[in-house]
Amino acid sequence: MKRNIRLGINIDHVATLRNARGENYPEVIKAAKIVEKSKADLITVHVREDRRHINEKDLGDILNVINIPLNLEIAANTEMVNIAIKYKPKFVCFVPEKRQEITTEGGLDVINNFDNLQKKIKILSNSDINISLFIDPDKDQLIATHKLGVNAIEFHTGVYANAFIQKTNVEKELKKIIECTALANELGLNCHAGHGLTFENVSPIASIKNIDELNIGHFIIANSIFDGLETSILKMREIISKAVK
Ligand code: PXP
Repeated sequence: MKRNIRLGINIDHVATLRNARGENYPEVIKAAKIVEKSKADLITVHVREDRRHINEKDLGDILNVINIPLNLEIAANTEMVNIAIKYKPKFVCFVPEKRQEITTEGGLDVINNFDNLQKKIKILSNSDINISLFIDPDKDQLIATHKLGVNAIEFHTGVYANAFIQKTNVEKELKKIIECTALANELGLNCHAGHGLTFENVSPIASIKNIDELNIGHFIIANSIFDGLETSILKMREIISKAVK
């Protein structure tokens, strides 16, 4: 039997569009309900320090209407950890955050932020929240992450996605993800992946053995303008299913 890859749909950019005009549409709750109806496995949102897209009210509203798990992406700081404790999502993914960046540009530097991450993980360990860390496909970062005692990591696929567009170094970037996934598996870590994934570039990632969750946002929301959200999610799911080995 083919293994199943969990598909998390990141709906941040529904809120980006809403906030662009300060209106109350498009509604994130409506998007969340469609994601659930489309049989996605989880809804992913990133509450950023500057609240440029999803805010706390959205988070509460989404949690009130969905029956599938929510994966909350947050920076490893006290404000965000308190938000996680208050709203109790099923999953938290720690991500790096820089105010000026357009999107999450790379993975966490676990090696140089080890103590802070350890503290924040310890605080959350008293809750039922499952924690993952968003890291680059880098063996040293992976080994440091393992030392933190979490049981899941999400590999940043952004460099691979850019290589795919530029048609250079695609194999090299893919190899890094494949090798790190194999090492993560040896270390007993569950592997997720995401960032910059599209209909065109998702298959090689989905076909990597031991990747068991993909989180996809910007492309799905962008494609929804033309095909609708449900159709876009179903098509992504179909491509992923075909690629799974
Ligand atoms: N996974 C993580 C941890 C992220 O921070 C993001 C972007 O917010 C994604 C996945 C989704 O990336 P994209 O919007 O490019 O699909």
